Amino acid sequence: MKRTLFVTGLVAFGVTAAIAQSNVVEQRQNLMKEMAAQTRPVGAMMRGQEPFDLAKVQAGLKVFAENPKTFVTLFPENSKDAPKTEALPTIWENKAKFESIGNKMSQDAQTAMANIKDEASFKAEMPKVLQNCGTCHNEFRKKSS
Ligand code: HEC
Repeated sequence: MKRTLFVTGLVAFGVTAAIAQSNVVEQRQNLMKEMAAQTRPVGAMMRGQEPFDLAKVQAGLKVFAENPKTFVTLFPENSKDAPKTEALPTIWENKAKFESIGNKMSQDAQTAMANIKDEASFKAEMPKVLQNCGTCHNEFRKKSS
């Protein structure tokens, strides 16, 4: 009887850990999806395919300021080889650098928020924020084939 309870407990623990692992991957991927959703209108404005809209730019910058900071905290050791993650092991080998790119992106977005007043300042400032996407992906995300 005791043994059965113990085994049941272990199984329950294993399941909980698996759920926690998939949740953390889902959470961080959702934060990225939100960033990608903001990049679309902003990119269209950069290319002149959509009229400049300061309110939309500010809404995007808010997400670029907030999401990366939370994002870099969602990489517990046990999520390293979770199924469905595109995170590279280099994240855990170089956590400090990984976190610093996330924090830099957040900082750059706040600077841009203060500096962007019109279309000209938007075109000058926004690329500085968005270049962080590629910098981080190159080193820390699996290349999608
Ligand atoms: C600090 C590093 C970092 C920054 C900055 C960053 N990304 Fe990511 N991104 C990642 C990592 C790591 C993954 C893989 C996460 C996973 O699968 O667990 C990812 C995944 C994604 C995904 C796939 C999400 C999914 O559904 O699986 C998209 C889309 C994405 N990033 C877009 C962006 C955009 C757009 C920006 C800039 C506005 C950006 N990222 C900035 C590290 C970063």
